[in-house]
Amino acid sequence: MDEQSRPVLRVEGVTKHYGHVQALRGVDLEIRPGEVVGLVGDNGAGKSTLVGVLSGATVPTEGRMEFEGEDVVLSSPSHARSLGIETVYQDLALALDIPIWANLYLGREQRAKGIAGALGWLDRKRMIREAEAELRATRIRIGSVRSRASALSGGQRQAIAVARSVSWGSKLVLMDEPTAALGVEQQHRVGELIGSVAERGVPVLLISHNLPQVRELCDRVLVMYRGRIVADLDPKRESVETIIGWITGAALEEQR
Ligand SMILES: Nc1ncnc2c1ncn2[C@@H]1O[C@H](COP(=O)(O)OP(=O)(O)O)[C@@H](O)[C@H]1O
Ligand SMILES: [Mg+2]
Repeated sequence: MDEQSRPVLRVEGVTKHYGHVQALRGVDLEIRPGEVVGLVGDNGAGKSTLVGVLSGATVPTEGRMEFEGEDVVLSSPSHARSLGIETVYQDLALALDIPIWANLYLGREQRAKGIAGALGWLDRKRMIREAEAELRATRIRIGSVRSRASALSGGQRQAIAVARSVSWGSKLVLMDEPTAALGVEQQHRVGELIGSVAERGVPVLLISHNLPQVRELCDRVLVMYRGRIVADLDPKRESVETIIGWITGAALEEQR
């Protein structure tokens, strides 16, 4: 199979139990280069749990995962990051008591250490400069990268998390409701960023409740219902109403 069509990521039979709660009940999924894949579903359907598994944050109960054609067992989020899998978490994992620029390098201390050596202060300057350039490139306005993340609004924090994933995700970007706290213009910017990531050939898995946005941005929409992926839809062909029918389970009932 050529590089273009080989899935970047494949998962098979992934389950996750929390005591009696079956958050995932056998998920199969393939993500190919350059695709923007929407993941929708009602609250509690298992979307964040699935992203947790794909990002190394959650250990699945069962199932296997293939990354670039090789079996992989993700041991931690930093393991996933080292493979080029970058995640925007729903609960906004920014460290509030450190500057914005340091948040952009969070979890990459290794790289910082490598460059720093005897020239520690130079390295810091360089990271600040690069953080400024990255944020400028995203055109998301946040003021000075030297201010603490705690000074930012929810939307600005979300924008930083998106900028981080976009600049570091070299193989796969996972976004769990990245636009939930954003204003209209910022949502639009994030939409453009997602498009630019996919153009680089890096696929994006996008969780969003904004179905018009999902229809506009995604090549494919997966619907989760009670821990399973129940539909794989072409958003250009299906209406919002049809997608909602799958989300609520009504479409499943009709099939029975
Ligand atoms: N850490 C956890 N401990 C116990 N139950 C959890 C945990 N995380 C998620 N769940 C449960 O798993 C199910 C799926 O949750 P989640 O993946 O967050 O859904 P979604 O993101 O689609 O809203 C829910 O019933 C939720 O309560
Ligand atoms: Mg969720």
